[in-house]
Amino acid sequence: MLKKLKTIATNLLAITWIRKCYEFVNRVFLETFGSSRILAHLFYTIAFLAFNREQVGVLRGRRNYYRNKNQDRTSRVELRRNIHRLEKGIIMMPRRDIFARDYITETVEFYELAARQCATDPNSLETSEVEWAHNVLSEYFRVSTGKDPVVDAARERFAQLSYTPQDTDKVPYVKKNLSSISYEQLHELAMQRRSVRWFDQKPVPRELVDKALVIGRQSPTACNRLPFEFRIFDDPEMVSKVAGLPFGAAGYAQNIPTIVVVVGKLDSYFSPRDRHAIYIDSSLAAMSFMFGLETLGLSSSVINWPDFEPLEAKMQKTLGLDVTDRVIMLIAVGYAHPEGLVPFSQKKELDTFRSYNQLR
Ligand SMILES: Cc1cc2nc3c(=O)[nH]c(=O)nc-3n(C[C@H](O)[C@H](O)[C@H](O)COP(=O)(O)O)c2cc1C
Repeated sequence: MLKKLKTIATNLLAITWIRKCYEFVNRVFLETFGSSRILAHLFYTIAFLAFNREQVGVLRGRRNYYRNKNQDRTSRVELRRNIHRLEKGIIMMPRRDIFARDYITETVEFYELAARQCATDPNSLETSEVEWAHNVLSEYFRVSTGKDPVVDAARERFAQLSYTPQDTDKVPYVKKNLSSISYEQLHELAMQRRSVRWFDQKPVPRELVDKALVIGRQSPTACNRLPFEFRIFDDPEMVSKVAGLPFGAAGYAQNIPTIVVVVGKLDSYFSPRDRHAIYIDSSLAAMSFMFGLETLGLSSSVINWPDFEPLEAKMQKTLGLDVTDRVIMLIAVGYAHPEGLVPFSQKKELDTFRSYNQLR
């Protein structure tokens, strides 16, 4: 018995010693290479595979952005971005007589391609997007009262396109606060939402998921691109395959009724400077989606998706993802188990994470 205890104590000491040694070496390493941009660059020149998946994703995303431009598609990111920019020009106070002259020609070109696709096969794309583009372009030419050859040529070209939208009111408007939702009600919803990991074993109606997604898609996104997909799995076999992948659902993956994989689309950008927008936009949409679920009696929990090559490769294969598709997070969805506990999860005090006019 004494011998056994002695062995355990020795093992524990050895583990502690190894952990301390590892931490020491790691810290020396990080203190060195983290101390300057040049040393960090040197480090990543050697460890060049560290962010390789992201690098190829960003580059191929940019390549596909240009490749896709002349392809028929459900939604056209370049058109969405430019129409958004036009709307921003239209709402300027004061508005200029002439604006967007550097990109109005290409915007009409983008619109032309979409309108052509719409005329050929209206089921192959989002007609609401073409309608919005048409309405905003009409409004742009209506309010562009100055004389300018570029704008005039674009106006002429637009006028020659025959497309009649059903809706004509998808243009900037004066926003009215019609909602009667109070701070207290929203606060109540925020306090109610918790990460729920234990669910009743009953299916989640797709209508409810879709209703929550309607809330999710109302979230702000950079240039109104909505550069994401919410890939939903509610087939038990598929759920178990997908939920079994991330480390973060270990122990409760088997009880998740519906799982959502939020995928960011890197082919939405022509510039690497926007590569982080997929994470921001998707997360904002995910949060609204989760609030939407709460109002419908459903619970959820985000599951982390680490940038870890073996997992990335598995997910890519399981979902048939392109390398330009980046998994942002997974979300478990279901009806909360009536006896399931949720962690208290103390939040930080406002004073800890909020400051006003503070320079450091
Ligand atoms: C990006 C992100 C990753 C998360 N990853 C996991 C995870 O892998 N497994 C898990 O059980 N919970 C995960 N969570 C849930 C957090 O643990 C939880 O949001 C946090 O503890 C606060 O609790 P609350 O959501 O109930 O307020 C994650 C949340 C976020 C936002």
